[in-house]
Amino acid sequence: MRTETPVSVQLSDYKPYPFEIEQVNLRFDLDPDATKVRSELKVRRTGGAGDALVLDGEGLTLRSISIDGQALDASCYEQTDKALIIASVPDAFTLVTEVEIAPSQNTALSGLYMSGGRFCTQCESTGFRRITFYPDRPDVMSAFHVWMAADKATYPILLSNGTPGETGELDDGRHYAVWDDPHKKPSYLFALCAGDYDVYRDSFTTMNGDEIALAIHVDKGDAERAAWAMDSLKRSMTWDEQTYGRAYDLGVFNIVAVRDFNFGAMENKGLNVFNSAYVLADEATATDADFEAIESIVAHEYFHNWTGNRITCRDWFQLCLKEGLTVFRDQNFSADMRSRPVQRIKDVIRLRARQFAEDAGPLAHSVRPDHYGSIDNLYTATVYEKGAELIGMLRRMIGEELYRKGMDLYFERHDGQAVTIEDFYKCFEDVTGEDFTQFRLWYAQAGTPEVTVEENWKPETHEIEITLKQKTPATPGQPVKKPVPIPLEMALLDEEGNLAEWTTILEDEDVTLTMEMPDTVTEPPLVSVNRDFTAPIRLNRSLTREQRLAMVRMETDPFNQWDAVQTLVKAEILALSEGSQAEPDDALVTALAGAVEQAVDDPAFAALLTRLPEVGEMFLERQPADAVALNAARKKLQSALAAKLSGFSAETLGKPTPAPFDPGAEQAGIRALRTAMIVLLGVSPDAGAADTLRGLYDNATNMTERLAALRAYTVQKGGKANEALADFEATWKDNPLVMDKWFALQATTGDAETIKTLAAHPAFDLRNPNRVRSVVAAFTMQNLAAFHAPDGSGYQAVEEIILKADKANPALGARLLTAFEQWRILEPQAKAAAEATLKRLQSAGLSSNAADIVARALG
Ligand code: ARG
Ligand code: ZN
Repeated sequence: MRTETPVSVQLSDYKPYPFEIEQVNLRFDLDPDATKVRSELKVRRTGGAGDALVLDGEGLTLRSISIDGQALDASCYEQTDKALIIASVPDAFTLVTEVEIAPSQNTALSGLYMSGGRFCTQCESTGFRRITFYPDRPDVMSAFHVWMAADKATYPILLSNGTPGETGELDDGRHYAVWDDPHKKPSYLFALCAGDYDVYRDSFTTMNGDEIALAIHVDKGDAERAAWAMDSLKRSMTWDEQTYGRAYDLGVFNIVAVRDFNFGAMENKGLNVFNSAYVLADEATATDADFEAIESIVAHEYFHNWTGNRITCRDWFQLCLKEGLTVFRDQNFSADMRSRPVQRIKDVIRLRARQFAEDAGPLAHSVRPDHYGSIDNLYTATVYEKGAELIGMLRRMIGEELYRKGMDLYFERHDGQAVTIEDFYKCFEDVTGEDFTQFRLWYAQAGTPEVTVEENWKPETHEIEITLKQKTPATPGQPVKKPVPIPLEMALLDEEGNLAEWTTILEDEDVTLTMEMPDTVTEPPLVSVNRDFTAPIRLNRSLTREQRLAMVRMETDPFNQWDAVQTLVKAEILALSEGSQAEPDDALVTALAGAVEQAVDDPAFAALLTRLPEVGEMFLERQPADAVALNAARKKLQSALAAKLSGFSAETLGKPTPAPFDPGAEQAGIRALRTAMIVLLGVSPDAGAADTLRGLYDNATNMTERLAALRAYTVQKGGKANEALADFEATWKDNPLVMDKWFALQATTGDAETIKTLAAHPAFDLRNPNRVRSVVAAFTMQNLAAFHAPDGSGYQAVEEIILKADKANPALGARLLTAFEQWRILEPQAKAAAEATLKRLQSAGLSSNAADIVARALG
């Protein structure tokens, strides 16, 4: 088998589609092995008279084709493996095609497929062409009318986009339903679901007084576990009305939970399809992290209704237009639902861990790239998370009021259109009168800007001089970078608090600011830079350890206070890992423990303070990166902290956990601190720690603490926790989402042998992305010391699984392979083993999605 590398698609090649599709009428005769799809397109020419009609289509068996009721002769059209081409068509006509597809054979989970015996679809970005022939591109928007029929006993519920119409009975026990979507939409927002579900229902009245029927469709027996998702949905609807003035625009809003799903969820118009992991939750089966993820993903998909659906992308290069903006919106929703500083810190942890790593490696690309090999590989941390940061900077620079004005103008001007980043920024230029040309460089340049800060205190004049310099490193294909405007919230601090606060926009390569202090200031003030992480940059400062410790004490910005701790901790882990220091510095551990104890009234923040940076977050700090040494160093520091906090920990865990259970922020914060103490017990040198953990596991009243205790117990027992793991398995073997946690727990705490054992487990299922990720991605992304083992055993353990997963499901295969993106910066042995693995994979034959990742990684 050979590996085909995809050809590159260029932004500059964009041409409008030469036809308008005025109406789409679809008829589905659903059958798992042979579904018939009849499509009737009302087409009108908008381009040149000579333009052929080219429709995308992949893996479709064409049964018939006609124009205006006339069957087409085979000589009038050409079918390739990717398209249907009709060279000569009238200026206005009706095209009817009938195709047959086999959902039961669809293992790629793109297009129409079966999951748990039910039909479902995933069309973004290019799944619709696997359902019928169509101009499958986001700038072709049309009104969809759907008729669908299926066996009534097996598939009693039939869903599609829009609002439900007529239903009725057919022969042979079949029934049908009609759905009409009045809003024009691109094909990637099409959805169809059919099956037997339990339904959790509710309703919502919009600010316009419209009554919306809400329904969440789940596996039989799971209805009550959709309560939190429903609650999150209603809060999202209210928030979008209050914050952006946007109300929902259809009479029904349906969510369907699907077990086999490649991504988190999908914002199809009026019919969001979700990975069941982001719908189902209750205290016994879900952790607080799950509740939090559900809240934010439900919000994300709901917010897409305006930022994505009503206004969509002209082409896939503009993906950040909907994704970056919608992530920005969901992050702010979560911040309003919970603690804003805690949310900000979590968002930045994620950005640094995933996006900064991506930006620094061979897969680096700009937020709005100008070419891509495979569109599926563009759903990245850069497009999503960095894309969100750019909107955040925009809002900070122009202020909330003008931001809202610009958004209002955007909704008004472009409703019903497929637009570009330039269109979006034009709205902000129009409301502010400013020019965003230089700011838009953020969209074109890959790489994380590095800002160097130098300060110079002049005691005679009481002046402090601050020099800021920016530099963005070279990335693949972009050797030279221009300066970008970097909004930096700044402050000067002394022991009493803030001496000054202001915002600097660093537009040029460097700038020097001089601040004059009152005569009473005799010591150099501390300079607080990029407060609240206003800009997605890396800061470069040569502060002394004393200055950094003072920063922990004196910072008035919660983000920067946390970050000051992180910086010290990172330096300590590095020193320990490089052997320049044998034991953790007691002064640092004491300061850290002190900060935790002081934050006890904000337990969620205190919990974050105990969290040491993950091994992967350390990779960018010093290279070559030695995952094994970093992991050992991290653990050393962690157990020193555990020892220092043992009294505080006993006190924290000695109190009862909050009851009755509530998933909201207040209780979650308390559990976060308890869980943080459980994590520390896992590495505590205390002889009784294992027994304490076993007791916490046995007596836990919620999954958050039960899972944390089991994990820490496993760590404490050095992998000899089989009996407890078996107990967990026996309890939860029938709950796939909980079993995913069981797999992931072992994959993140074990080694290459563990992975082989897990992959041989009867419940390991190559066809279920959640299960594959719970073993492979958990191992490769969260167990770096074992994955990057210098003998290559970690790579060998996943190689075969990734190959097999990729054969069935290229989106999954490609995603798993991104774990190799950092191979070049590893220590020599792991580096060589990783390179050899990538080359073996390449010659073993990969899907074109996976080949795109591997080719760029090796690049
Ligand atoms: N639009 C979906 C979301 O953000 C994700 C779709 C992922 N599709 C893909 N081909 N990667 O919410
Ligand atoms: Zn999205």
